[in-house]
Amino acid sequence: MAKDVIIACDFDNVQTTLQFLDNFKGRKPFVKIGMELYYASGPDIVREIKRRGHKIFLDLKLHDIPNTVRKTMKVLSNLDVDMTNVHAAGTIEMMSAALEGLTREDGTRPLLIAVTQLTSTSEQRMQDELLINASIQDTIAKYAQNTRQAGLDGVVCSPLEAALVKQACGQSFLTVTPGIRFSDNTKDDQVRITTPGKAREIGSDYIVVGRPITAADNPVAAYERCLKEFLEIN
Ligand code: C5P
Repeated sequence: MAKDVIIACDFDNVQTTLQFLDNFKGRKPFVKIGMELYYASGPDIVREIKRRGHKIFLDLKLHDIPNTVRKTMKVLSNLDVDMTNVHAAGTIEMMSAALEGLTREDGTRPLLIAVTQLTSTSEQRMQDELLINASIQDTIAKYAQNTRQAGLDGVVCSPLEAALVKQACGQSFLTVTPGIRFSDNTKDDQVRITTPGKAREIGSDYIVVGRPITAADNPVAAYERCLKEFLEIN
C-alpha cells in the first residue's frame, strides 16, 4: 500500500502557494488544498498545481443531502484530483451518493475518504451538544465502519486512532492522519499529536503535515525529514 506525506498548503492566495511549491524545484510532493485556499482561489489553483505534476488531496469535507453531494462530486471529479472527502456524519446514504457522483463513466475515480469525528471535538462536547451517548472511540469506530460499508476507501482521523480504525475496518482501509509534529516541534493548536515515526508504527497510511513544513526555515529539509521518519528511510 502506498504510504506518503501530504503537505497541507494552508495559504490564503495563489501567489504564496505557488512560491512555496517553487522551493521544491524538481520534487513534486503530494499536497492538500483545503477550504481556505479553494474558496479564495477557486478551481484554477487545483488545475495549476495538477499541471505542475503534484498529486492533490482536495479537502472540502462535503456534508449535505445525498443528491447535492452526488452532483457536487460529479463536478469535482472533472478536476482530476487524487483524493477528496466527505463527513461520515452525513450517513451511509450520503457517502454512497458521493461515491456514485465521483465515479467517472470509465469507472475511474479519486480516492474518497470520510472525516469521522473532528479531532477538535471532545467526547464531552459530542455527548453534551450532539447528544451522542457513546464514547468517542466507539463513535469513531462506528463511523469508520459506516464509511467502509458505503464503499469508500478510508477515513481522516487522529494518528492515535489509526490502530482502532484498522481493527474495525481491516488493514487495507486507509487512514489519513493530521496532527503530526516532530519531537522537537511546538504543538501549536493541535492537541492529540504524534511524530511521523510513531504515526507509521500505529498504522497511518498518509500523514498530513502543515506548519512543521510550511512554517519551517527550510521547508524542503523539513519535508525530507518527514518523509525519512515516516517511511523509515535510513
Ligand atoms: O499545521 P498542521 O500540521 O496542524 O495542519 C494540519 C492540517 O490538517 C490542517 O490543514 C488542518 O485543517 C487539517 N486537519 C486537522 N485535524 C483534523 C482534520 C483536518 O488538523 N481533524
